[in-house]
Amino acid sequence: MADKLWGGRFHGQAADWVDDFGASIHFDYQLAKEDIEGSIAHATMLAKQGIIGEDEAATIIAGLKEIEAEFEAGQIHFSVKNEDIHLNIESILTEKVGPVAGKLHTARSRNDQVATDFHLWLKHRLPAVKAAITDLQQELVTLAEKNVDTLMPGYTHLQHAQPISYGHYLLAYYEMLQRDFERFEFNEKHTDILPLGAAALAGTTFPIDREFVADKLGFDQVYHNSLDAVSDRDFALEFLSNSAILMAHLSRMAEEMILWTSFEFNYLELSDSFSTGSSIMPQKKNADFAELSRGKTGSVYGHLMRLLTVMKGLPLAYNKDMQEDKAGVFETFDTISAVLKVFTGMLSTMTVKKDKMRASLKGDYSNATELADYLAKKGLPFRQAHAVVGMLVYQGIEEGTALEDMPLSELQKASDLIEEDVYQVLDPVTAVNTRTSLGGTAMENVQKEVESAKKVLAAR
Ligand code: ARG
Repeated sequence: MADKLWGGRFHGQAADWVDDFGASIHFDYQLAKEDIEGSIAHATMLAKQGIIGEDEAATIIAGLKEIEAEFEAGQIHFSVKNEDIHLNIESILTEKVGPVAGKLHTARSRNDQVATDFHLWLKHRLPAVKAAITDLQQELVTLAEKNVDTLMPGYTHLQHAQPISYGHYLLAYYEMLQRDFERFEFNEKHTDILPLGAAALAGTTFPIDREFVADKLGFDQVYHNSLDAVSDRDFALEFLSNSAILMAHLSRMAEEMILWTSFEFNYLELSDSFSTGSSIMPQKKNADFAELSRGKTGSVYGHLMRLLTVMKGLPLAYNKDMQEDKAGVFETFDTISAVLKVFTGMLSTMTVKKDKMRASLKGDYSNATELADYLAKKGLPFRQAHAVVGMLVYQGIEEGTALEDMPLSELQKASDLIEEDVYQVLDPVTAVNTRTSLGGTAMENVQKEVESAKKVLAAR
């Protein structure tokens, strides 16, 4: 099989479909730029160390740059016969500059090469992920600031629980995204390590300079164990795991947007640019993009499980199984980038139906805790207060009367601790504004949280 770059010890020929099965060029062509960048750094180092001639390195580098330009112009044709991006580029380089191209692979293996390309690829893209998260956080804070005093029911079990500020709700997502941001930041740390120089698995006998290569490629560190360098895919697993958690957050928000744009809730209306109609029902305005984002969460979770399963039980060092590591990461990057952008777009263009949110608090008994707390503050043990209010709620539902609409005499039949000031307490504005405990929904708290979030974002 002399047609293969590694074909020396082979005499037989693989069928095309077998080559196709083993190839990764279908997806790893996306590493082309990183592969070239890594090779240029490697060639520069080989020459600096006197391992290859300066003129040889110059020829190789010029050839690589030509390939890069042709790749960018869409003029390169990769072949399955050459299996993957690394062998494809080396083979094209050979066509361009002749046998000197063969010197590029000195002191290098595809094992440390692919790991380097993959690290570089992710290292180049994590800043964009962080920026997209920041954009969405920015939008949430802008919206929160406009809705500090927008009241709505807070839910548990999707039942009205207690009144909250809609701004407070929005900032809950800001906080989740803040943790996502920090997780990707940590991910950057583990991506910023150079594997190149580990060679196949054990290091090399050539006098290479790994720190020089790291410096050229902008890596913060080099791996200190050659086996670990070629076997580690933690950085990819972390990326997928961080993405899965991010998607869990966005999927929860999507679910609420879908519910809240329904006729029953009617808290939000999506803009025409972020909703779709029906081919049969003329009245329809569907939250398709929120639904699709919720749906795409499945593929991101799938990619995480896929790579965890691929890596599980692999003996050190490189195994071909690891070729399955990249496609899911590439797709996940595209997915989370698109979904983050869609959310920023949906939030910045939707209409918040403040009046409808506020009206949902009318007669919903979400002020029952206020009354129980009121009685407890007057000395009634909370358990008894809870029972008294429970009975009033029962009575109110039977009669169709909200707590705040019951006459004082009626309320006093349940407890003589109740006085005229109770109506102030039953007002949802009071319910929200008295929740001044740290992290509570009081408007003054929400306003302060808006200010501190703005500072965090401005410092990025
Ligand atoms: N295409 C391979 C991958 O993606 C590159 C490394 C191949 N190394 C090897 N020893 N076969 O993992």
